[in-house]
Amino acid sequence: MDLLQGKKALITGSRRGIGAGIARVFAENGADVGINDIERDENADDIIAEIEAIGRVATWHQADVGSADDRTRMFDDFIATHGQIDILVNNAVASADPHFTEITEDFWDFLVGHALKGYLFCSQRAVKEMIKQGSGGRIISISSVHSYRAWPQDTVYGIVKAGLNRMAISMAVDLAGTGITSNCVAPGYIDSRVLPPELEHTRGQLEGYVDYARDHIPNRRGGVPRDIANACLFLATDLGDYVNGQTITVDGGFLAGGVPPESVPLEPGMPGAAE
Ligand SMILES: NC(=O)c1ccc[n+]([C@@H]2O[C@H](COP(=O)([O-])OP(=O)(O)OC[C@H]3O[C@@H](n4cnc5c(N)ncnc54)[C@H](O)[C@@H]3O)[C@@H](O)[C@H]2O)c1
Repeated sequence: MDLLQGKKALITGSRRGIGAGIARVFAENGADVGINDIERDENADDIIAEIEAIGRVATWHQADVGSADDRTRMFDDFIATHGQIDILVNNAVASADPHFTEITEDFWDFLVGHALKGYLFCSQRAVKEMIKQGSGGRIISISSVHSYRAWPQDTVYGIVKAGLNRMAISMAVDLAGTGITSNCVAPGYIDSRVLPPELEHTRGQLEGYVDYARDHIPNRRGGVPRDIANACLFLATDLGDYVNGQTITVDGGFLAGGVPPESVPLEPGMPGAAE
């Protein structure tokens, strides 16, 4: 299909996982893509080779999206190579929240710095380019079901993701009349593991994962990166033109049934922990 023919898309954190899945689906639909990540490894080489094999351009852009200098370099390189930017997908994240009582200022600065502030300033730079280009554009940020409800030890991650949903609303209002839309996709329970091609058929089939999905998700399966990429594809194409300032939850109905929180035993010594 050629729903994105001639489009130039930059996807952050796309050497693996959901980001690589988005890059793959965009390229299958005719887009040239920029692969960004904090480091280049064989996963990055693989997705770049895969996209080139289907006849699309895939450029590499090492950058920490939490760093202003890196962001500037990434966008300068992307524009210099592709000549324009039509779609930005903010996807990069590195997160492992501690218990609320153990959140440090350093952790807050780290996670908010790349996964909220970084998304905002990547979006701002892309929007400035899109306004100069004069042909509209698409900003898509990957949020999460954690933006709506809490699981144990997800405070900062949840705040960041809720902030992205809200950012999309403000951007839609401030960018009125530019032809640029701003939306989020909120994934549910996605098997985004790195797998060798011969084990790709096991994606979503991991022991434990399957059981959890069957018990908690109305679709009776866990999600895969392509589920999220398909929603991004819709938003990125003309099909999604009238969707603006929204967060689309893509979770197989995970949240629909009001999933009960799992109880995680507290470490000894924490407030409320068993003696
Ligand atoms: N997997 C899930 O179940 C799930 C559920 C809800 C939301 N999400 C969201 O989907 C997105 C992708 O998740 P994933 O499961 O593919 O994760 P992942 O860890 O496989 O991929 C994230 C990528 O971002 C890169 N990255 C981290 N920090 C970066 C930085 N500062 N600059 C540039 N790149 C950086 C990592 O190196 C990694 O390659 C994230 O925004 C995540 O919050 C995932």
